[in-house]
Amino acid sequence: MTQYRIAWLPGDGIGRDVSEATKLVLDAVGLKADYIHGDIGWEFWCREGDALPKRTVDLLKSTDAAFFGAITSKPAKEAAKELAPELKDKGFAYRSPIVRMRQLLDLYVCLRPVHAYPGNPLNYKEGIEMVVFRENTEDLYAGVEFSPVPEDVAACLNKNSKSFAPFNGLKGDEYAISTKINTKKGSERIIRAAFEYAKKYNRKKVTCVHKANVVRATDGLFLQIAKDMAPEYPGIAFDHANIDAFCMWALKNPHNYDVLVAPNLYGDIISDLCVQMVGGLGFGSSGNIGKDYAVFEPTHGSAPKYAGQYKVNPIAAILAGKLMLDWLGERKGDRHLQEAAVKIEKAVAAVIREGKARTYDMGGTTSTLDMAKAIVKKL
Ligand code: NAI
Ligand code: MG
Repeated sequence: MTQYRIAWLPGDGIGRDVSEATKLVLDAVGLKADYIHGDIGWEFWCREGDALPKRTVDLLKSTDAAFFGAITSKPAKEAAKELAPELKDKGFAYRSPIVRMRQLLDLYVCLRPVHAYPGNPLNYKEGIEMVVFRENTEDLYAGVEFSPVPEDVAACLNKNSKSFAPFNGLKGDEYAISTKINTKKGSERIIRAAFEYAKKYNRKKVTCVHKANVVRATDGLFLQIAKDMAPEYPGIAFDHANIDAFCMWALKNPHNYDVLVAPNLYGDIISDLCVQMVGGLGFGSSGNIGKDYAVFEPTHGSAPKYAGQYKVNPIAAILAGKLMLDWLGERKGDRHLQEAAVKIEKAVAAVIREGKARTYDMGGTTSTLDMAKAIVKKL
């Protein structure tokens, strides 16, 4: 196997517990890599005024891929209070290091597999098999927000609002604005990624999730691009649904869905909905994937109340490690890595099916590291 360079970003809280567990599995499967530690998270916000220090961004740019555990984050005002005294009132503004990582490295695909492993006591129904493609760099997460609303922005809105505008006559500090910005390029590339995935893995259907009947400009654009692209993939069925209706139908008939593609915010929401049907946060893995780089992470947060207790389920993180091997293997044309990824997934499936190792969320008492060791045994 080639020697890879992996940026290793455990982050905060249980991010560290599950990263340690994932490392046991990656070592056991024989991944030859230099794991280079990167600073990210709450500690660095408090001490340095930056939850994603420049040295970490540089590290990401000089490695093959990154593995990221989880971070703690807080609303801007609370964050400001926890800054080191010498940094207070110096103009530091808290921004999510995850969103920044995605934007800085243009990791435009957020890939989230949703698979009901047979025997998982937490499965809502057996046989659920979906994969979410969430747009990862724009939409409501573009970060163009106003609070208070400056006069020039208000003037522009007043001039352009044709119908009832709830903000008419309000002072700038009496409302707030978060903009939803979707570009053709951004929409096209995520929808393309979803169709290409469907083609490659012989999936039957792509469903576009949106709210185009109300949010006409941005979601209308997204949906139209999906509709225009669908005929290029004649073997793959295409349909679409408003996000509210989708949530209802997905819960009722999850087997009707296969590959899902959505703008950033809806993608975020449906990923959590779907992953809850196959066991919840302990099973949600994701890849933030760009043209040249990718960051793999469990979708859960730092769960401070369990930090350092080695109690939580490492499967989400271990499956994120598996996604990393898949991506690296394909990118580098390294068959061994792809085989290692398959081995990891089979081992996870075997442990779940066998039912002996069960972390607390699955109704058992197995520790984070013992779950990883049980998986290692099945490799
Ligand atoms: P969380 O995902 O950290 O935890 C919520 C609850 O889900 C936990 O208390 C636990 O009961 C359960 N849980 C989470 N991961 C689990 C696992 N691997 N195994 C078993 N059970 C698990 O979400 P919460 O409590 O809303 O946020 C805590 C902190 O994490 C906040 O500061 C939040 O901003 C941050 N966060 C970070 C994310 C990231 O780093 N990607 C994502 C979500 C939240
Ligand atoms: Mg989320």
